[in-house]
Amino acid sequence: MSVLIAPSILSADFARLGDEVKAIDEAGCDWIHIDVMDGHFVPNLTFGPPVIKAIRPWTKKTFDVHLMIDPAQPYLEDYAKAGADIIVVHAEADRHIDRSLQIIRGLGKKAGISLNPATPESVIEYVLDKLDLVLVMSVNPGFGGQSFIESQVEKVARIRRMIGSRAIDIEVDGGVTPETAPRLIAAGANVLVAGSAVFKTKDYAGNIAAIRG
Ligand code: DX5
Ligand code: ZN
Repeated sequence: MSVLIAPSILSADFARLGDEVKAIDEAGCDWIHIDVMDGHFVPNLTFGPPVIKAIRPWTKKTFDVHLMIDPAQPYLEDYAKAGADIIVVHAEADRHIDRSLQIIRGLGKKAGISLNPATPESVIEYVLDKLDLVLVMSVNPGFGGQSFIESQVEKVARIRRMIGSRAIDIEVDGGVTPETAPRLIAAGANVLVAGSAVFKTKDYAGNIAAIRG
């Protein structure tokens, strides 16, 4: 299985966001990972649908929208209309995950669930048939540049076993580098998010290739 790289624009230069999106597209990224934070579910605040809409014309690549907002359900349609291709909600921020997944698919988008480091993988057990993606957080969400939490490698392996032959992506987010990526891929991850490891130098193509391995 080939691994997909999804640079997180949380680490991009926000003053030049359109150019940055174009640059990672041209550097060979697969998806664009978009971190939406509300200052409530996570202790940081980023941007919402208007900014996503503004960068949409800058690339044709998949917009992977990671909603770190509570509640998310009232806003799902706004993110779909803004240009999201995949909408990911946090298990911890939603009492009605099953309904959220149905809403996202009803909007014609791919549906994902994200799990904080302390959240067990069992929360996805009864919604496997409504899921397109599971996002394993390997840092506590809120900020880029944090250290990788090693225990999440085992969680990836367990999710890979739960998924069996279903077409569900396993994405990992937080502290992904050329050093941590091989362990995640070996455990069964097929999409890797990287913020600082992509944007740390101007050689985005080289940085993406190094994570891809
Ligand atoms: C953290 C975000 C991540 C973050 C990853 O809450 O969800 O996408 O940008 O950043 P790095 O790759 O620097 O750990
Ligand atoms: Zn993210």
